[in-house]
Amino acid sequence: MRAKRIIASVLSFAMCVGAMTSVSVNAEGNLSAGGIAVGANSAVKADETGAAATTSSNNNTATTPAETPSASVITIKLGDVNGDGNIDAADASTVLTAYANTSSGRAIGLTAAQVVAADVDNNGSVNAVDASNILSYYAYRAVKGKRSLEEYLSAPDKAMEELRAQTGSTTTTTSTAASTTTTTSVTAAASTAKTTVTTTVITTKPVPLTNPSVSSTTTAVTTTKPIPITNPITTVSTTTAPKPTTTTVKTTVTTTSTTVLTTTTTVAPTTTATAAPTTTSTAAPTTTTTTAATTTSTATSTTTSATTLPVSTTTTKAPDPNKVSEIKLSKTEIKLTVGGDGDISMVTMLPRTAPDKREIWTSSDENVATVNFEGWISPVGEGTCTVKVQSVNNPLVYGEINVTVVDPNKVREIKLDKSEISIPVGGKDISMVTMYPVSAVNKEEIWVSSDEKIATVDSEGLIRGVTVGNCIVTVYSRSNPDVHASIKVSVTDPNQVSEIKLSKYEMDILVGTLDISYVTMLPKTAVDKTELWISSDNTIAKVDKWGNVYGVSAGVCTITVYSQSNTNVKADIKVTVHNKPVILTTTTTTTTTTTTTTTAASTTTTSTSTTSATTTKPQPTSGSTTSAPAHLIMTHNGATYVDGILIVNKTYSVAKDFNAGGGLNANALAMFNKLSEDAALHGLKIICTSGYRSYANQELIYNNYVAADGILKADTYSARPGHSEHQTGLAIDVNSISSEFADTPECKWLEKNAHKYGFIIRYPKGKEAFTGFQYEPWHIRFLGIDTATAVYNSGLCLEEYLGVTSYYN
Ligand code: DAL
Ligand code: ZN
Repeated sequence: MRAKRIIASVLSFAMCVGAMTSVSVNAEGNLSAGGIAVGANSAVKADETGAAATTSSNNNTATTPAETPSASVITIKLGDVNGDGNIDAADASTVLTAYANTSSGRAIGLTAAQVVAADVDNNGSVNAVDASNILSYYAYRAVKGKRSLEEYLSAPDKAMEELRAQTGSTTTTTSTAASTTTTTSVTAAASTAKTTVTTTVITTKPVPLTNPSVSSTTTAVTTTKPIPITNPITTVSTTTAPKPTTTTVKTTVTTTSTTVLTTTTTVAPTTTATAAPTTTSTAAPTTTTTTAATTTSTATSTTTSATTLPVSTTTTKAPDPNKVSEIKLSKTEIKLTVGGDGDISMVTMLPRTAPDKREIWTSSDENVATVNFEGWISPVGEGTCTVKVQSVNNPLVYGEINVTVVDPNKVREIKLDKSEISIPVGGKDISMVTMYPVSAVNKEEIWVSSDEKIATVDSEGLIRGVTVGNCIVTVYSRSNPDVHASIKVSVTDPNQVSEIKLSKYEMDILVGTLDISYVTMLPKTAVDKTELWISSDNTIAKVDKWGNVYGVSAGVCTITVYSQSNTNVKADIKVTVHNKPVILTTTTTTTTTTTTTTTAASTTTTSTSTTSATTTKPQPTSGSTTSAPAHLIMTHNGATYVDGILIVNKTYSVAKDFNAGGGLNANALAMFNKLSEDAALHGLKIICTSGYRSYANQELIYNNYVAADGILKADTYSARPGHSEHQTGLAIDVNSISSEFADTPECKWLEKNAHKYGFIIRYPKGKEAFTGFQYEPWHIRFLGIDTATAVYNSGLCLEEYLGVTSYYN
């Protein structure tokens, strides 16, 4: 045994214990008293705590003078704090009391020598961890462990493993004492009892009582000091499985000298779940952390229940009302934050009759959380640990609390607004970073590229394409590098299309109508931006080479556009085609109006305001009878569509909430931007001065005009709320809403080219009688290229083209 050596100043402790007289630990037993070898000194003295020392009955000390360097040096037996020759629960209890004393500001109550003996983990302080270690070792010895305390503490797991191999035991754990009926025998203990121990069981039921450890003890005892009658090892060893009644055991131990010791022990049947040595690793000494790790696998079933040593028989015993057999905890999981409050789990020791309910609290990692002697757990640093409470009365019974401590100042999550980036060689892009929680103190970023030959990233997260290829760019939190987020970066050839963006990715169209999604091929530097359009099902929707999608029959299909120069790049549109809700019959109408006026009201003969009405085409300049084409008119969501084209004018209004907050139509905007860009190539500046206007907005504008010019005049140039195309998001006023605009080169260019971008001049000169409004060269309406071109080529205004009226009822 490696022992501590201290100078004579602690001699008083050596004197006080009496039992230090050269009792060495024997091969098997727990009762090798001594360990505090005091050379040949056999003086009798009262110890510092006032306990009377006993005189050694002989000088048969284990330590020879030759082994003792000098009389002023004594050897302390580690763990044997009370110097009774045992390392047991009594020592743990003494340590605990000392710990409680110091925790509450009182004197430690130990001699210097005791302090040395108590500090088993040699960390300079006597605390609950030392108590726990002593208990663990005590348990180990009780199940026939042979290592010294120092050996055991240096490798508790190994020691238990060794023990298990020797005994061939297996582990059986049950959650309650009552349910324990049998377990694995650690050794053939009963059969190896020595004759020096005689045991009488004063019950009607014989129980194997012989405890080899007790037996071996007798061979070693050379003093008159009585074997502690409450020695828990004796208790444990003679305890078997639960029994209905308390067993009284009379044990007679005969020493090799003249001492005869007779004790009567009330056996505490330790009751509960039997545990093979693996689970009796109630503490992994030296580091409680190891303890936690060792016992984790059994913790779930043992946390709130008792765990005891293995027993060697299957005999049942009644629980000892004086012994703690179970610990219940109000919580087995506790979560704390660094800098925050602590918490406590309330302990119930059972049976309630047990008089000694003292607790030992230990933390497996005091860098994570500490626990005081009352069980109050305080956060220290981020991490997890196990806080353990043991019964002093029955140290093999314990409960555990899993403690998690988090640091609220630490970054826990990183979110990026883009997880994929495609850039051409020489191009750059950035993904915006948000670090959580917002309370995190240090949100510094560290950016790393997996391949700087492909793309670099700077400290701000700006990614630059270097050569064609793929790599990963990752951002880490500097304060918590475990937290990171990545971006897939694809660096592309700047001359080749690498991405297709669409103005819409979903379409809902009626059979017989069409729609279009406008394409942007990226990068802008790509040389060949030719599109290839394909429908997944031509019986549902067809698509032409410009991307116009036609509804053929009800159903759902996918329209895909590819880059012809790089067919790896594509974009899909989900197209849903609906049946027409209304089918109209062909109607031939005759107009009789003979005069043209500036108001539509006098020119029409009928009007339609429902989905199923037939329209009558106004012919303000003709008195002849004409056969007009039939048109399909339907209403949808409070708006009217003629041949699938939304019509909003004096006759046809939209509901107040139509397109509320919808803004400019995405296709209209995309095409206007192209129009504007192309006009710029000719040195022309065409800008949007009024796009989407809400119902309320229009109301304000119209009322102002009415206030200024009166209702009749206002009605010639301003639409009443609900009657303005601006509410649909399909109309744009460009540049200046003044008659002077008509004379600008922009206006001329617009008249000739607007249809190529899907727009018409909505209120043309000379068509006031049809449109209901004065000439507005600045007001363009988006119809899509096909329809706009058809209207442009027809020379008709939209009302004429669709065969509808425009007047206020
Ligand atoms: N100026 C057009 C007619 C409107 O107010 O919508
Ligand atoms: Zn307008």
